[in-house]
Amino acid sequence: MVERLQDRVAVITGGGSGIGLASARRLAAEGAKVVVADVDAEAGKAAAESVGGLFVQVDVTDEEQVRALFQTTVDTYGAVDVAFNNAGISPPDDDSILTTGIEAWRRVQEVNLTSVYLCSKHAIGHMVERGRGSVINTASFVATMGAATSQISYTASKGGVLAMTRELGVQFARQGVRVNALSPGPVNTPLLRELFAKDPERAARRLVHVPLGRFAEPEEIAAAVAFLASDDSSFMTASNFLVDGGISGAYVTPL
Ligand SMILES: NC(=O)c1ccc[n+]([C@@H]2O[C@H](COP(=O)([O-])OP(=O)(O)OC[C@H]3O[C@@H](n4cnc5c(N)ncnc54)[C@H](O)[C@@H]3O)[C@@H](O)[C@H]2O)c1
Repeated sequence: MVERLQDRVAVITGGGSGIGLASARRLAAEGAKVVVADVDAEAGKAAAESVGGLFVQVDVTDEEQVRALFQTTVDTYGAVDVAFNNAGISPPDDDSILTTGIEAWRRVQEVNLTSVYLCSKHAIGHMVERGRGSVINTASFVATMGAATSQISYTASKGGVLAMTRELGVQFARQGVRVNALSPGPVNTPLLRELFAKDPERAARRLVHVPLGRFAEPEEIAAAVAFLASDDSSFMTASNFLVDGGISGAYVTPL
């Protein structure tokens, strides 16, 4: 493995599971010191231990906890070089706009969008001080495309992540801080499995649109995270990096 992240410090929210866990492993394998931040203490601790990193229990919707996460990182390792703002939820009660209640709407906005505002705010402050940093915000291909199998608050939250990321990338470009959105297609993680186990028709309706004919594995998204975290992506900022098996480019897919 090329060690592109030697001596870099990476904070990963939602690092206990799925894309975050695979990214913790990949960034550590490339030499980074990894801080796993997750609301789930058991999963987060296990993830951090498996990569020789630090676990911080955080609810990413709580500003004080988010501020403390980045301060603890700086106090422990001296810097924040990479912030992978990835924690998110996709609950079954977020569905069609006609049936989704305000409570489900707000919960998804808080965890998926307000969290990215808080994490970007408290990471970028430290990065600007050192004139260096890479922020990666997890959006989704649904920020770019409409789905008839609706999750209305989720989609709106990811659209917000995309627009906020573009603005931050432009604002901080000349201060050495790059900010990019990562937009995965459907990925084989607990989040997706939970949703589709309850509704196989929903899974089949989605799969037919993926030109590569399958869902992504978390490791394939982690490879993109490592690229965006490293200096190999040094001329990229304010971008929407789609890793979607070709969905967003497709009209008719192969049989
Ligand atoms: N799986 C997919 O198909 C897919 C596709 C596109 C985008 N995404 C996005 O990728 C990101 C990761 O998704 P995943 O599939 O790996 O999910 P996952 O459910 O496997 O992992 C999410 C992690 O986030 C943590 N988390 C949830 N709420 C939190 C909170 N309030 N504070 C701190 N941590 C919290 C969970 O404990 C969990 O460890 C999410 O933002 C998701 O929207 C996923």
